[in-house]
Amino acid sequence: MTEADLSRRGFLATGAAAALATTACVQTTTTWKPAAPEVLVRRQGTVCLVGSQNTKKRALELAYELHGKGTPLLDAIVKGINTVEDDPSDHSVGLGGIPNEDGVVELDASVMDGRTGLSGAVASIQDIKNPASVALLVMRYTDHCLLVGPGAKQFAKHHGFKEENLLTDDAREAWLHWKATLSDKDDRFPKETALLPKDVKAWFGITGTVNCCGLDKDGHLSGCTSTSGLAFKIPGRVGDSPIIGAGLYVDDDAGAAGSTGRGEANIITLGSGMVVEAMRRGAHPTDAAKEALERVVRFTKMKHLQRADGKPDFQLKFYAIDKKGRTGSFGMFAGEQYAMCDEHGTRLVDCPGLFGG
Ligand code: GLY
Repeated sequence: MTEADLSRRGFLATGAAAALATTACVQTTTTWKPAAPEVLVRRQGTVCLVGSQNTKKRALELAYELHGKGTPLLDAIVKGINTVEDDPSDHSVGLGGIPNEDGVVELDASVMDGRTGLSGAVASIQDIKNPASVALLVMRYTDHCLLVGPGAKQFAKHHGFKEENLLTDDAREAWLHWKATLSDKDDRFPKETALLPKDVKAWFGITGTVNCCGLDKDGHLSGCTSTSGLAFKIPGRVGDSPIIGAGLYVDDDAGAAGSTGRGEANIITLGSGMVVEAMRRGAHPTDAAKEALERVVRFTKMKHLQRADGKPDFQLKFYAIDKKGRTGSFGMFAGEQYAMCDEHGTRLVDCPGLFGG
């Protein structure tokens, strides 16, 4: 796929072209095998975390360490997620996140506590680099589940968060390049793409996110998801990350799940909630995540969301942990990894997919 195809406008054009093409039946082609039956795999009191690949750098390890020193696991997870939000080189969240079509970074995040069933979230919040921490405060200090836009920012400022410009130079370069290559009928000229950082091209059309879910030493589950959302989105667009049941769901009686990838597909199918419900029936987290993705495929009926071969034209991944501490992940497409952390340390694990990478 070319860079132009991956821009939002290019994506729509590609979809329209695909609508004219013959569409093949969607088949799941994976080398994945159902998980072997497991009894209790973890000792009582064992802490275990699962997360998106970008939690491997520091987030999982920090959450594990802090919880080991007595911090409640949800607070520890949020501190871990903050390290990704603070990292300007991670363009999927927080500082350095990819901006909306006006060049403004708008962030979404949620937290959920499986013991109490409480959640908190913020959406379309600007100028505050740690939306995960704001979501935690929404859960702790309000009777609400979701604050958006200026209200969310005002709430954060009341709690002492500082406003800052989250648009880094390289994210601004990418945004300018996106604007300049949107159309051949406007007055903007693209810079030589060779002058742009090598990985800038990879940002177009992406939905970067960070998610982490975990089981604490007392057997309680919690989770957090944070994102800058779809690159160059329409201002005000909210993805799945702050929507409880879509980008995150946690229930001590069953399991916890979160997601990264195309939020719209996940909102429609209540993905994380569905993963947790499958774990409640006893499914292994990997199988539960696969089941939710199969529903997403069934709901991907519009041609502009399909490739020429009929498969969905987007990535979506779930990360899950059940009440026994079993972990798993599944993606629409294979070829990526997820992270996990337990008493054996932090590591990356290959993520199976419904379709080949
Ligand atoms: N999953 C992130 C988003 O779609 O906003």
